[in-house]
Amino acid sequence: MKYFNRLAMGTCYYPEHWDESLWLNDLQRMLKAGIGTIRIAEFAWNKFENEEGVFTFDFFDRFLDVVEQTDMKVIFCTPTATPPAWLTQKYPEVLQADQDGHIFYHGCRRHYNYNAPVYLEKTRIIVEELAQHYANRRCIVGWQIDNELNCQIGEFFSEADSVAFRVFLKEKYGTLNKLNEAWGTVFWNQTYTDWSQIYLPRHTPHNTSNPHLKLDSLRFYSESCISYCKLHYDILKKHLPKNVFVTTQGLFPHVNYNRLHDEALDFLTYDSYPMFGLSDEGGNRLKDRKWSMELARIRGAGNEFGIMEQQSGPGGWYNRRFMPTPKPGQIRLWTYQSVANGADYISYFRWRTCTFGTEIYWHGILNYDNQDNRRLQEITDIGREFEKLSDLAGKTYQAKVAILYDYDNEWDGETDVWHGPLRKYSNAGLFQALQESHVPFNYVTVSPNLRAADLKAYEVVFAPHMTIMDPDLAECMKEYVKGGGILIAGARTGYKDRNGRCPMDIMPIGMTDLFGMEIRDFTALNAESPYAYASLGDKKLYMPFFHDLLTPVADTCETVAVYSEDFYKGTPAIVKNQYGKGQAWYFGAAFDCETVKELLKTLGVESLIKDLAEVPPCCEISIREGDGKAYLFVLNYTGDTVELELKKEMRNALTDEKVSGAYKLDAYGVLILEV
Ligand code: GAL
Repeated sequence: MKYFNRLAMGTCYYPEHWDESLWLNDLQRMLKAGIGTIRIAEFAWNKFENEEGVFTFDFFDRFLDVVEQTDMKVIFCTPTATPPAWLTQKYPEVLQADQDGHIFYHGCRRHYNYNAPVYLEKTRIIVEELAQHYANRRCIVGWQIDNELNCQIGEFFSEADSVAFRVFLKEKYGTLNKLNEAWGTVFWNQTYTDWSQIYLPRHTPHNTSNPHLKLDSLRFYSESCISYCKLHYDILKKHLPKNVFVTTQGLFPHVNYNRLHDEALDFLTYDSYPMFGLSDEGGNRLKDRKWSMELARIRGAGNEFGIMEQQSGPGGWYNRRFMPTPKPGQIRLWTYQSVANGADYISYFRWRTCTFGTEIYWHGILNYDNQDNRRLQEITDIGREFEKLSDLAGKTYQAKVAILYDYDNEWDGETDVWHGPLRKYSNAGLFQALQESHVPFNYVTVSPNLRAADLKAYEVVFAPHMTIMDPDLAECMKEYVKGGGILIAGARTGYKDRNGRCPMDIMPIGMTDLFGMEIRDFTALNAESPYAYASLGDKKLYMPFFHDLLTPVADTCETVAVYSEDFYKGTPAIVKNQYGKGQAWYFGAAFDCETVKELLKTLGVESLIKDLAEVPPCCEISIREGDGKAYLFVLNYTGDTVELELKKEMRNALTDEKVSGAYKLDAYGVLILEV
């Protein structure tokens, strides 16, 4: 079911932070700016249950009565991200703990755990009460569950979590013998003889725990999060009218968002703060543009999505971070970054900066003074533009390439210094190369349901470092290639099973026929290694972090590039194998941006817009298409005017003018063309 039939704007509003006399005026000003939806109540538990078991709804009833004097729509939240002080005092077992078992006390947020039976019961009660009371309120169009599940804390060590972990393991393995076998506990005498001996990874010398236990612990964190979300979802769905949606925001560590989406939500939302990429902590080459990578992940977790919090002001807590204010044009640029990547709903965080509390410096659209300002004007202008673009909603992001994304591999990589750093480097390298070559991509998530048919539409599929491999996934890749696809796997593919153990077999396990080669030797490299190169004809390619030394064994396997240094100089580094109607490439290192660009050229993968426009690499492009209409987006992330060449006449969707030939796009500018 589609929930958005037109592009729409919203904002996050906290009626509990303001004098009631401001409410109506705030709502009227929002509507005037084109903001038609507000999200409320995600941290307001005390307003409903200030005393255990005593429920009062008059505060939000009063607020919703005011809302219903206007046309404003509401996304109502379950308030569980901040359990009340009376609750954490009376039931301290609901509190979350760090790895040493130290309790996180009351005073911030997300200080609870997903597994304390009493918290599950308190959650059930408050969600049930709210759903019963508010389900049929006319202005409520959707619900948000909690707030940013797994944000701030993504690994959990409370007593209740360890107890639930044992139940999870019993269900998974059945017997301790099987668990001991799967985790290889014979190594260093870790054999468990009673379930009660098992804990989520605790501090050990060098803080090194059994890697297979560690992998299962990360899966367990995801499982806990999904089942906590589903607790809310099932209650809400029981009460809500059919057209009222349920969502929550991603992306945070150790959550399988595809499963969260499929099992416990109607669609996902994302909180987009691209200024992180421009402030010191960003540390990435594409700065704010890198947020498109997160947007691609959200898109990959389930088609329709919205932005629940789009940055609209400078940021910072009173004790953390320091972010400048968005320059004129940047709120608009980031808004269209979200839209260009597939979002149909944009809600700005937050209407007005709070005048007290931890986020006293995390600014919203309006400043403390409550006066109209340039940020409100910029958003008002976007609202007018959205009216011209309203039929964009539901149009599909056009991708030429897929990148396989596998949670097990991501999580195993987090704990593994041999291939972990490869993943991070390659994700960034692939993203930048594809962005700057104007070759849009989708993340396709690996799951037991993945079929070759899901990959068929893509010209090329990258499988960066699928260390953990199983016969089903290998089969799916083979089917895709047999049918004519091009698969490119990176170093360390196929040497672990789903438990993260390494079977005694020739690498890449179960795929030597697919790639027509065997890996008989390999080496890790330092990041700065002078030997990290391969030759492709007369070109020198940077091949960082790891070298798989490839030995072709099939006549169909052709060497594309060879390592150019060290004792294995001349050994194949990149090979391609004709397999069925397609090609399987093996790339022996991590994917560097410039190397990937070279590879795309060698493969003949062209820009999505080659017939439409010449656009410099500093601009992001995308096309959203559907119902016989397509829109091209060009986003300029730089503070300079850039020159484009439009190769045919197209309609500027915002001004209605016909444009063609040389075109100047302003600093932080956005061009949207109907093509
Ligand atoms: C988000 C969160 C909001 C607010 C915002 C700015 O992560 O959902 O409640 O904290 O960041 O810090």
